[in-house]
Amino acid sequence: MRLQGKTALVTGAAAGIGQAIALRFAQEGADVVIAAHRDNAEAEQAVAQIRQTGRRVFLVSGDVGKVADARAMIAAGVQAAGPLDILVNNAGVEVRAPFVDVSEADYDRVLDTNLKGPFFLTQAFVQHLQDRQPARQPGDQSGSHPAGRIINISSVHEELPFPHFTSYCASKGGLRMMMRNLAIELAPLGITVNNIAPGAIETPINRNLMSDPTELSALLRNIPLGRLGQPGDVAGLAVFLASADADYMTGTTLFVDGGLLWNYAEQ
Ligand code: NAI
Ligand code: BGC
Repeated sequence: MRLQGKTALVTGAAAGIGQAIALRFAQEGADVVIAAHRDNAEAEQAVAQIRQTGRRVFLVSGDVGKVADARAMIAAGVQAAGPLDILVNNAGVEVRAPFVDVSEADYDRVLDTNLKGPFFLTQAFVQHLQDRQPARQPGDQSGSHPAGRIINISSVHEELPFPHFTSYCASKGGLRMMMRNLAIELAPLGITVNNIAPGAIETPINRNLMSDPTELSALLRNIPLGRLGQPGDVAGLAVFLASADADYMTGTTLFVDGGLLWNYAEQ
């Protein structure tokens, strides 16, 4: 039980990677707030699944890309579950389009969900942490355990170009620099900030890809380990970053991609 006594809020946790993270957190002893886009059957199902672990689980909902919703979700999470220790910014969307055809509405949806959302959720989370505890003095070594954890689910595309997904890459690249900045700025508060950058993971976001055998086999040829990742491959890393084993880590991106990012071979 690596997260006993901790409470985590995970966005986009009704499905895919977020759901797997919420479940693994609960299996490791954490209480969990599922922050879903909508309070619907899918979200209720995720809650029911996680409740089977015996941990406390709560559901809040809203659009992370709307600042008022983001703030309200943190407030509702605190009201339901009590003090939060861990925030996982996982909710995200992608829209495929050639650069010249990208609409303003699609650009806004991707940037609002993937970058503005984590920005203001993190701000509300940090304000909550500050309200909970007196600020640490610089050089204060008394607390060896960081007071808060922020984990962003970015992507290999915070680093790797992805033609026809320029708004998505801009959002994930932005998330990388947000993480690096906050790692420095929030360290004096005892808060760590890290990114997880998955490669191609078998979730609903890849529905189109997985139903196109030609595109899928082209992608698999680019993955040295020869398979898509599973949500559980990402969840294990999130547990590590949330646990005491990662106390001394901040400002880092960890890649979980089957080798996709650095793949190069001469035929
Ligand atoms: P998914 O589509 O299953 O999950 C995305 C979740 O975000 C859904 O639960 C959805 O309801 C939620 N969401 C979307 N827009 C929202 C909004 N405006 N407000 C609140 N919630 C919203 O996809 P997946 O794969 O689980 O994605 C999770 C994260 O992982 C995303 O940030 C994605 O960019 C990232 N990622 C996924 C990869 C993959 O291959 N599946 C690879 C690299 C990164
Ligand atoms: C994207 C997926 C893509 C994967 C690998 C992720 O960030 O959401 O659509 O398959 O990166 O390219």
